[in-house]
Amino acid sequence: MREITPRKIIEMKGKEKIAMITAYDYPSALIADKAGMDIIFIGDSLGMVVYGEENTLNVTMEQMVFHTKAVARAVKRALVLADMPFGSYEVDTEDGVRNAVRLIQAGADAVKIEGGYDHRKLVRKLVRMGIPVMGHTGLTPQRYLRLGGYRLMGETDDEIEEILRDARALEKAGAFAVVLEFTLADVAKLVTEEVSIPTIGIGAGPYVDGQVLVWHDLLGIYENTPPFVKKYADIGGMIRLALENYREEVKSGEFPAREHYWEFLDKDDFRRKAQRALERLGEDD
Ligand code: KIV
Repeated sequence: MREITPRKIIEMKGKEKIAMITAYDYPSALIADKAGMDIIFIGDSLGMVVYGEENTLNVTMEQMVFHTKAVARAVKRALVLADMPFGSYEVDTEDGVRNAVRLIQAGADAVKIEGGYDHRKLVRKLVRMGIPVMGHTGLTPQRYLRLGGYRLMGETDDEIEEILRDARALEKAGAFAVVLEFTLADVAKLVTEEVSIPTIGIGAGPYVDGQVLVWHDLLGIYENTPPFVKKYADIGGMIRLALENYREEVKSGEFPAREHYWEFLDKDDFRRKAQRALERLGEDD
């Protein structure tokens, strides 16, 4: 069992902020774990940042299982959380249970579903079975088509009510935390005060129990970052510069330099060996 458990995450509420980051492969997850992240999350955002899709709606269970396995192999300390992709839990509870089990068997410690109130039965069932669940309200990207794109949530009475209803339903059903995405900070603060489980914000301001960002956004690898992202590095720029240098050195012949290859010091010896090899090949023909 990894060091950070859902129980520890719950205990952090009001005491220590929770740091969560997405990761989709082995090397990234290794680095994230060594950096001391509390939760390493295989988000369905991989559909966009890894596979170049316009939204997350085409992400499959197969992709989630594949990437969860890679991340789980790397992580020793953090809680490994896997996203349930669009269509993997909405049809019926049985389907949701089957798919959550696949993610746990791939190495996740917990699963995340988008929504709250509408999925309270599934959350309760999973928790009773022993599968920890994180909910997600505010902007739920899997409702991209209905929402008409990605936008700030929580401006109207109805939206505030819906967000609160989701968070309360998740708490009651036994979820261990809830993501609040792209809501007004006041709404996130209200929810954080209203529920006993930790709230983890993304574009929801500072009055929450923790923060989550997408790996590629934070590191400056992905170009279409949402407006609430802070870029902590320009890794995309660094990679591009390195590749441009490599390309130039290949074109100019500067790479490979003498330290990057091996050759016979005795050229006569090599000529004799090459001659013999050529003769043998000739005989085979
Ligand atoms: O898939 C994802 O990366 C997410 C985060 C934005 C919370 O759901």
